[in-house]
Amino acid sequence: MNVEACGVSDDDRRPPVSDLLEVAQRGLALKPKRLPSWLFYDEHGSRLFEQICEQPEYYLTRCEIALMDEHAGSIADVLGSEVRLVEYGSGNARKTHILLQHLQAPVSYVPVEISSEPLRQSVGRLAREFPQLPLQPLCADFSKPLRLPIPPSAPRRTVVYFPGSTIGNFENREAAALLRKMRNEMGDAGGILIGVDLKKDPEVIEAAYNDRAGITAAFTLNMLTRLNREIGSNFELSAFGHRAHYNQMIGRIETHIVSHREQQVKMGRASVAFREDEAIQVEYSCKYSLADFAALAAKAGLAVLRVWTDPQQMFSLQYLVRASTVAR
Ligand code: TRP
Repeated sequence: MNVEACGVSDDDRRPPVSDLLEVAQRGLALKPKRLPSWLFYDEHGSRLFEQICEQPEYYLTRCEIALMDEHAGSIADVLGSEVRLVEYGSGNARKTHILLQHLQAPVSYVPVEISSEPLRQSVGRLAREFPQLPLQPLCADFSKPLRLPIPPSAPRRTVVYFPGSTIGNFENREAAALLRKMRNEMGDAGGILIGVDLKKDPEVIEAAYNDRAGITAAFTLNMLTRLNREIGSNFELSAFGHRAHYNQMIGRIETHIVSHREQQVKMGRASVAFREDEAIQVEYSCKYSLADFAALAAKAGLAVLRVWTDPQQMFSLQYLVRASTVAR
């Protein structure tokens, strides 16, 4: 079976575009103003995100790929044979490629991605590179309940793969809820292979979200370009800026879109007022110590079975299973 045969399932619970105006209006009526981070990932945003991953300051992707390169063999051993691999937010699936080369007789690969074009492209590429592997792409928002396609044969276990420290983009409570949702989806025998960015020198972290080439700034502001195009708002791009600050107390990057001046923006029939320096909160990127993350996993009924990390402890790959299955 290949992608042409199975096609991309479109999960009907994905937010329809017609709701976008309401999403934007609701978020900008909050105090402080807020826009949901899935708005980043239209086609252009997804491309910008890939460029972020290649910036010299953005150490996360490089570290995670190096970990995968070095440990894919032992990771594949821990996961075992006949795995169904479900990837949350698969994007271009670069790291998955390395993992799939090492997995023993995987039953299927289910990339779950909200942005349909990158999903189609990565699946097309994987179909050529792994012609034996059944691909079951799902275009959906992974934070919502998923209806996973029926696997072509019974897997020994379902492993949810969640790289990129995307878990850090959720606040503690939501992160625990998301891990718990994965715990349900993977079943008793299942596991979660997750990329987790670690606490380190704040300057190193802050630089990763303020690259000198300005790609991250363009990525952040693309949210406004998208709204202008899709809901007909009139954000003036030069009147807003990107700000990413590391909050050391909480251990997270806080990304904002900041209004350079007092202004009004039209949105449907309404208009939204901005004060000078008023910020729209768009993303958090939480950083963890290994102990922080183990505590988060425990809140979701999960235990950390293995951790792979680099000598400088820049980044970690972790394998989680149901806490009840680990002998104490
Ligand atoms: N998961 C990525 C991270 O938190 C997403 C990301 C990278 C991001 N750069 C960003 C989100 C800039 C918002 C702004 O590192």
